[in-house]
Order: sequence, then C-alpha cells, then structure tokens
Amino acid sequence: MTEKLVTIFGGSGFIGRYLVRHLAARGWRVRVAVRDGEMATFLKPSGNVGQISIVPTSITDPVCVAAAVHGADAVVNLVGVLYGRGRRTFQAMHVDGAANVAKAAAAAGVKRLVHMSALGADAESPSIYAQSKAAGEVAVQSAFPSATILRPSVVFGTEDGFFNMFGRMAQLLPAIVFFTNSNPHAPEGGGAKFQPVYVGDVVEALAQTLDGEGHAGKTYELVGPRVYSMRDIVNIVNRETMRNRMIVGVPYLFAQVAAVFLQFLPKPLLTPDQVRLLKLGSVGTGRKPGLAVFGISPTTAEVVVPTYLKRFKPLQQTKKLRLQAR
Ligand SMILES: NC(=O)c1ccc[n+]([C@@H]2O[C@H](COP(=O)([O-])OP(=O)(O)OC[C@H]3O[C@@H](n4cnc5c(N)ncnc54)[C@H](OP(=O)(O)O)[C@@H]3O)[C@@H](O)[C@H]2O)c1
Repeated sequence: MTEKLVTIFGGSGFIGRYLVRHLAARGWRVRVAVRDGEMATFLKPSGNVGQISIVPTSITDPVCVAAAVHGADAVVNLVGVLYGRGRRTFQAMHVDGAANVAKAAAAAGVKRLVHMSALGADAESPSIYAQSKAAGEVAVQSAFPSATILRPSVVFGTEDGFFNMFGRMAQLLPAIVFFTNSNPHAPEGGGAKFQPVYVGDVVEALAQTLDGEGHAGKTYELVGPRVYSMRDIVNIVNRETMRNRMIVGVPYLFAQVAAVFLQFLPKPLLTPDQVRLLKLGSVGTGRKPGLAVFGISPTTAEVVVPTYLKRFKPLQQTKKLRLQAR
C-alpha cells in the first residue's frame, strides 16, 4: 500500500462517500475532515483497517483546518451548501472556508489541491450560490495557484438530492411539479436544461487529477452525455417509480412565491435563490475540458437512476414483479 495521504473535507457527504471508497481502493490513506465525526464512522469499512481516519473539523476554523491537512500529500475540498442559514452562509462556506483550506494546504506544502465548485459558477450570475462558487474559485486560485477546479453539473447517484427529490414527490403527492415559463405541453415548454453527471464518473476524474502534475491549475466541466429538460427528468422519474402521476408545469413566478415561504422550513424545500439557479439550468458550456480528458465515457442517467428510484415504487408493483419473476 502506498503511503500517500489525502485529506478530504466533506468526505461524508454524497460525493465524498464515493470518493473515499474510490481513493481507498487506489491505495490512498484517507483522512476525512467533517464537522460531525460520529456521523462519518460509516466510512471506516470503505478501506482496510487504519486506512481511513476521521478528524472532526470545520472549514471555518483555520486552526482545525491546518491540523487536518498536516502531513497530507493531497487535499480535496467538497464542502458546499445549497442555502445559507445562520453562520453557514454561502460566503462562509464557499469563499472564506474554501480560502482557509487553500491557504492551509499551501502553508503545509501539500502537492495537490482539488476544489469542488459547480457548473454555472459565475460572478455575474443572478444566483448567490453561483456567485459564491465563482468567488470561491478565485480565493482558492489566489492562495494555491496550482489547484484543480472541478465544476460538475447536477450529480446523480443512489444518495443524490435531485432525482430522489422528484422520486419522493412522486411517492407522496398526486402530481410531480416542474417549473417552466412557457406552455408546459409545447415542445419548448420543458423548462430549464440539465446535463446530469454520474457520481462514479466524477470521483474517477477527481482521483485522476490527484495523480501527478498534469491537471495542476486547470478547471474542468463535468457533465453527462445527454441534455434533459426538467420535463424529461420528471417523465423519467414518473416512469421509473411506476406512480403514473400527473406532470404539472408551473410558472417560475409561482415557484418564487412558494419559495418565499418554503425557505423558512427547518430544512428548506426550496429557496428563492434555488429557483433562480433552477431557472438557469446546468448544461456544459464546452469552453472547458471535460470527462473525455480523463478517458471517461460518461454514464447516462437511464442506466443508473432506475436502480435507486425503484424504492419509490408502489409496494404492490414490487410484489407483482417478484411474482412474475418466479
Ligand atoms: N451534489 C451535486 O449535485 C453537486 C453539483 C454541483 C456541485 N456540487 C458540489 O460538490 C460538493 C459536494 O457536494 P455533495 O452533494 O457531496 O454535498 P453534501 O452531500 O451536502 O456533503 C457536504 C459535506 O460537507 C461536510 N461539511 C459541511 N459543512 C462543513 C464544514 N463547515 N466543515 C467541514 N465539513 C463540512 C458535511 O459533513 P458535516 O455536516 O458532518 O460537516 C458533508 O460531509 C459541494 O461543494 C457542492 O456544492 C454538488
């Protein structure tokens, strides 16, 4: 086993758990830095005994961050939030926290830093999330110029927040809702466009960026092989959950008004900033290199999504399928 050590901030999250497993399989010693160390212990069996360690850390605390990167050969920052709340603002998480990680990595003589941004990161974006992702990239590059920046589109996989959210909607509600500004039944009324990318492809690309200096200072856009409208996505969910729900396209204005109230739930279902982000969609610009550079042929959503949306199927459908298979 190689002695190389990687510190992963946010290693217990959706993408992080795949990355921990993937890097452990490639022989890395993995140090997972998250706030809630207890909740991250499930990661330990992802490697051999002693290969994965967990250090309770917040990226907002420069002293803890410095301790977490001490002795590491590589550092990955996966910390991100979808809405700001209390002290966990976009600025604190995506900009100041990212700068803390990059400065500590530079000071510790870390060789490789990978920073997870997002497709659509743009200082001029109407979305504060996207603005803060752009400011985070700038902060990271100024503290650690050879950092590699990854900008994925919406990421899909068993624990994702995107397809699963629509799956839950299909399970619990009589209709699945998507947002559009034109007639939802017209060909152009499918709403914003997305190019979802498989989590397995994202972590394979990320793992490769840690090998050698070839990816130093580069920014990559990670997108899947197909562009879907919001309506395509809810149709996939409706089919795969076998719920046969009504598909309802509602105007963004309605979404904005609903979000004003929904943002105050303990875990907001929708915030006004998320509506602005959803309206923009998430499709590759083609201006940055992508998965092809890593020799990865991207996985389509249709191959993977059915494997985990089946949990939202009606029970009798699952039983019927089992009986048919006898
Ligand atoms: N998922 C997507 O579709 C998608 C798309 C584009 C970009 N991204 C970006 O990819 C990154 C990872 O996304 P994800 O979906 O895996 O996120 P996630 O599931 O929400 O995971 C976030 C991780 O960060 C940790 N964390 C939160 N606050 C922290 C803090 N202050 N200090 C240290 N750790 C902290 C969390 O653990 P604790 O709560 O225990 O600290 C968790 O391990 C994010 O930057 C996100 O913006 C994701």
